Amino acid sequence: MSEMSNVGCRIICRAAEPGDREQVLSMGDVYGGVDYMDYMYEKFTTNQQYRSFVCEVDGRIASFRFYRIIDDNESIIGGGVRTHVDFQGRNLGKRLGEASARDILKEYPRIFRNYLMTAIESPFQRQRIRENPNEYTLLSERNVLSLRITTSAIKAFINGQKPSSTTTIRPSLDDFLKHTLKDETQTKLFPDKYITVGWEPFRIIKSNLSNIYNERNILWTLGAEGDPEWLTIECIYPCETGFRIDLDMYGVEPNCLATHLVQSLASAVARYPDVEAMCELLIYTPIQFPITEDLFERDVSPGALAACKTYLVIHRNMMQYLAS
Ligand SMILES: CC(C)(COP(=O)(O)OP(=O)(O)OC[C@H]1O[C@@H](n2cnc3c(N)ncnc32)[C@H](O)[C@@H]1OP(=O)(O)O)[C@@H](O)C(=O)NCCC(=O)NCCS
Repeated sequence: MSEMSNVGCRIICRAAEPGDREQVLSMGDVYGGVDYMDYMYEKFTTNQQYRSFVCEVDGRIASFRFYRIIDDNESIIGGGVRTHVDFQGRNLGKRLGEASARDILKEYPRIFRNYLMTAIESPFQRQRIRENPNEYTLLSERNVLSLRITTSAIKAFINGQKPSSTTTIRPSLDDFLKHTLKDETQTKLFPDKYITVGWEPFRIIKSNLSNIYNERNILWTLGAEGDPEWLTIECIYPCETGFRIDLDMYGVEPNCLATHLVQSLASAVARYPDVEAMCELLIYTPIQFPITEDLFERDVSPGALAACKTYLVIHRNMMQYLAS
């Protein structure tokens, strides 16, 4: 895809392959024990929506990043950028980003008009949005609560909850699409016009919703009018420190939150019954409904992303940058 020499090094940017798995994983867990790479790598390199790339320096994989083509091929999400610690600070991640974007443009010439990314809220991100208003636009901001908790403490939390009058349902695909595509539901649940699931932002359209439904577990509570007023999208998978649960929550009725937590955590401990197993719990809520670790009574400590209180969905205008 792209090859160059730099101070005696041979640098190649190319598509990532399933066979690169061990080398990419050997870069280490870059998210403090909650990395998704092991769980996702196969999908990154075989699913037709994803395009993944590596940068090799003298035959060694130095950097990785992926993209996902979404919104009926109208938009692209970028993520997962990581550079091996031995190679950081040499702009290899950026170089790989540019080479891979140019490769994708051959297939989708207009796609980088709608380039979306999510990022942990940080001075770095705030500064680049503030200083480059023509390049970066903030689309959405949501709360993140990152906790580390044992399975036995989760069980204690579940058992300690008072019976609730909130009913949770796992919707059928038809119901999920029918209700979520309604204008009223969208205005209520997705005021920013995006649904972000596992750090990937999607427009609320049928193809994206069908993918989300097929990839995740969905739980919702219906209001008096029969439309959803709280929606939880769950993802549970092993990670370096034990297992990880991501709960993306959307809604207008925060009283549903505790019941949704109980339901989601119950299915997680059913899958990871070892009482000493350590769980990294990441709960994402609408910005007006921040939650704190006081929800749990014991054995809770800050999780790997605890320093991050919110995440940002950002539109990046890449076309001018790629035109140069
Ligand atoms: C951040 C990191 C990828 C920088 O890699 P690098 O090759 O040394 O540096 P580059 O300057 O080429 O930057 C590569 C990308 O990382 C971004 N980046 C650099 N510093 C960053 C920071 N502190 N926070 C978030 N992103 C950062 C750059 O903007 C660039 O992204 P872009 O090409 O989409 O603009 C590398 O230090 C790393 O792997 N860190 C651990 C994983 C991580 O924090 N990833 C970023 C968040 S997903």
